Amino acid sequence: MKTLDNKKSAKFWDDFAGKFNLLTRYSEWRWHELKREIFSKASGNVIMIGAGTGNDFKLFPSDVKITAIDFSQKMLDIAKNKRDDSPSPLELKLEDVQSLSYGDEVFDSAITSCVFCSVPDPVKGLKEVFRVLKPGGNLAMFEHTDSKNPFFHFTLKLMNFLPGPDLTRKTTLNVHNSGFEVLSVNYIFQDIVKTIYARKPL
Ligand SMILES: C[S@@+](CC[C@H](N)C(=O)[O-])C[C@H]1O[C@@H](n2cnc3c(N)ncnc32)[C@H](O)[C@@H]1O
Repeated sequence: MKTLDNKKSAKFWDDFAGKFNLLTRYSEWRWHELKREIFSKASGNVIMIGAGTGNDFKLFPSDVKITAIDFSQKMLDIAKNKRDDSPSPLELKLEDVQSLSYGDEVFDSAITSCVFCSVPDPVKGLKEVFRVLKPGGNLAMFEHTDSKNPFFHFTLKLMNFLPGPDLTRKTTLNVHNSGFEVLSVNYIFQDIVKTIYARKPL
């Protein structure tokens, strides 16, 4: 597994912020409807982990309250301009998911999209998400992970030499190991791109 350092990872996203929208235009178009379905799982008081440049704000339902966090100030600076795309009230905060400033059990739902490949210590981050969710609270994720297919696994491992995210994360296992009950995992592309639905037990 690739080792990601906190400062270097936040700097990577700061440096990438200006190019992010251009480089993700295709994937934004490609996964738009699927993400809308994931975001429809959000209810009540919602925490969005890894707001990025705010491209997904428009996908939220209209009857929730959103706190969108990111640990890259540059990403948040761009996301500020998309705040009004959200049909629900949305607050942006500079926060590291590995050490959230919120109290226990304050959120009803948590949403992530392509984030837990980059969080330096994913289990620490997921345990924080678990902590801030109310019992019965749900976690809806759209993530890319490692593959069980030897060819894809090897290819992803090779690609890990590139700077940035770890492409061989075992995110479903990490969700389980953080205390969540994994309700469903749906494969979108091979077993690499997937949705994960989980909840904090009552
Ligand atoms: C690939 S981008 C995805 C952005 C957005 N969710 C999207 O799909 O367009 C990953 C984002 O996660 C953020 N991120 C990574 N590690 C984080 C951490 N420890 N705490 C908060 N945000 C983090 C990065 O700064 C970056 O904005």
